[in-house]
Amino acid sequence: MNETLIQGAYIVAGLLFILALAGLSKHETAVMGNKYGIVGMTIALAATLWLATKTAGFDALLIIAIAMAIGAAIGITLARKVEMTGMPELIAMLHSFVGIAAVLVGWNSSYETAAYPAIHDVEVFVGVFIGAVTFTGSIVAYLKLSAKMKSAPLVLPARHAINLGIIVVFVVMTIVYVLVPHEQMFLRQLLLGIMTVLALFLGWHLVASIGGGDMPVVVSMLNSYSGWAAAAAGFLLNNDLLIITGALVGSSGAYLSYIMCRAMNRSFISVIAGGFGSDGNVVGEAKDYGEHRETSAVEVADSLKNAHDVIITPGYGMATAQAQYAVADLTAKLRARGVNVRFGIHPVAGRLPGHMNVLLAEAKVPYDIVLEMDEINDDMPSTDVVLVIGANDTVNPAAQDDPSSPIAGMPVLEVWKAAEVVVFKRSMNTGYAGVQNPLFFKDNSAMLFGDAKERVEDIVKAL
Ligand code: TAP
Repeated sequence: MNETLIQGAYIVAGLLFILALAGLSKHETAVMGNKYGIVGMTIALAATLWLATKTAGFDALLIIAIAMAIGAAIGITLARKVEMTGMPELIAMLHSFVGIAAVLVGWNSSYETAAYPAIHDVEVFVGVFIGAVTFTGSIVAYLKLSAKMKSAPLVLPARHAINLGIIVVFVVMTIVYVLVPHEQMFLRQLLLGIMTVLALFLGWHLVASIGGGDMPVVVSMLNSYSGWAAAAAGFLLNNDLLIITGALVGSSGAYLSYIMCRAMNRSFISVIAGGFGSDGNVVGEAKDYGEHRETSAVEVADSLKNAHDVIITPGYGMATAQAQYAVADLTAKLRARGVNVRFGIHPVAGRLPGHMNVLLAEAKVPYDIVLEMDEINDDMPSTDVVLVIGANDTVNPAAQDDPSSPIAGMPVLEVWKAAEVVVFKRSMNTGYAGVQNPLFFKDNSAMLFGDAKERVEDIVKAL
C-alpha cells in the first residue's frame, strides 16, 4: 500500500514537472509554471524521504536531513548573492554538481550485485560516462562564462579524432566491462577508473574547444547532459521519479539546444561533436573600419522626439548596467508621446536564454511590444531610430558580411537598415565573441558612450 502511494506521489510530481515546463515556455504562464514545479518538488521530496525512512530507517533520514541542510544552506546563500548577470555561471556550476553526483552514484553501484548484471554494468558505465563529461564540461563552461578562463577556443590538432576516439574506446570498454566476471573486482574497477578519466578529459575538451560566441549552445547542451546523467542515476538507484525528471531535463535541454543551434545557424551534430563554430581564425581586429561618430543624450532625445517608429535592441550591457527600469521609463514616455516603440530580442542576447525577456518583464515592459528577432527584422528599414542598448555581437553585420568571422552565419538583428542607429556602450571594446563590430563605423550609426542606465536616464530627463 505504502509502495503504491509513493509511486502515485511520483506520478503526480512527474505530471507537475511537465506542467511546470509547459508553463515556463510563455511569459504569461511562467509564474504558474514555477509554482507547479515547487509543488511537484515538495511532493517528490516528501515521498523520497518517506521511502528512505521505510527502507533504511530513521538513521538514513538523519543523514539525508544533514545533507539537505548543508545543500540548502549553500543553495540559499548562492541564490541570494548571485546577480542576474551571474546566472549562467551559477547554472553551469549547478550542472557540474549533477554530473559529479551521477559519477558517485555510478561508482557506488559498481560494487553492488544486480539481478541482471549485464544491464546493470551498462547502466554503471553509461551513468559514470555522462556524469563525468557533464562534470568537467560544466566546470570549463563556468570558468569561461565567469572570465576565469579565456573564451577563445582551444584548437588541438585532430580534435574531432580525439573526441571520436574516446567514444569508440568507451564503447569497447563497456563491452569488456560487461564480459569481465564480478569476482575480478580489481580489473573491473581499473576499467571503470580509466573510463572515468577519459570521460573527464572528453568533457573538458568538448567545451574548451568551443569559442565564446557559441557558449549559449554549450550551456543548454550541458543542461541536457545533466538531465541524462540524472536519468542514468535514476536507473542505478531504481528511482522512477529521477528517471522521469532526468529525461524531462535531458529532452527539454536537447530541444533548447536545437532552438539555440537554429538561432546561431549551427549544426546540432557539430555541437555534440564539440569544437564547432570556430576554426581558430582571428578576425577583423586589424581591419580599418574608419572613424566612429559620437553623440549626446540631448541629441538622441531630439531624434526620438521626431521619430514615429523606434526599436530598442537590448543586450548584455543592459543587464550589467541594470538599465531595464530606465529603459521601461523611456519606453513609457515615448509611447505617451505617440511613438511606436518595440523591442527586438535576439535569441542569444545576454548570457542566458530569455535573459532580456526576464529583465524587461521585471521592469513591467508590456509583453506585446517585446518581439523576437524574426518578427521584427523585416521592419528595420522602415524604422526611424534603433537604440542598441548594451548589445554588440547580436547586432554585428560581420555575421552576414564576413565569412571568416567566428560569428559568421549567426543570424543578427539588422539594425543598420534603420534610418538612424544609436549604440549605448562604455567604450569601443568588443562584445563576448571578441570581434570588432563594423556597425559602429557606419554613417547612420552614432555611439553614446557611458553606463547604459545613466545614459538612458539622461535621455529621459532631456525628453
Ligand atoms: P555582447 O556581445 O556580450 O556585448 C555587450 C556589450 O555591452 C559590450 O560590448 C559592452 O561594451 C557593453 N556593456 C557592458 N556593460 C555596459 C554598461 N554598464 N553600460 C553600457 N554598455 C555596457 O552582448 P550581446 O549582443 O547581448 O550578445 C551576447 C553574446 O553573449 C553573444 O556572443 C552570445 O553568443 C554570448 N552568450 C550568450 C548566452 C545566452 S544563452 N544568451 C550565453 C553565453 C554567451 P563596453 O565594454 O564598451 O561597455
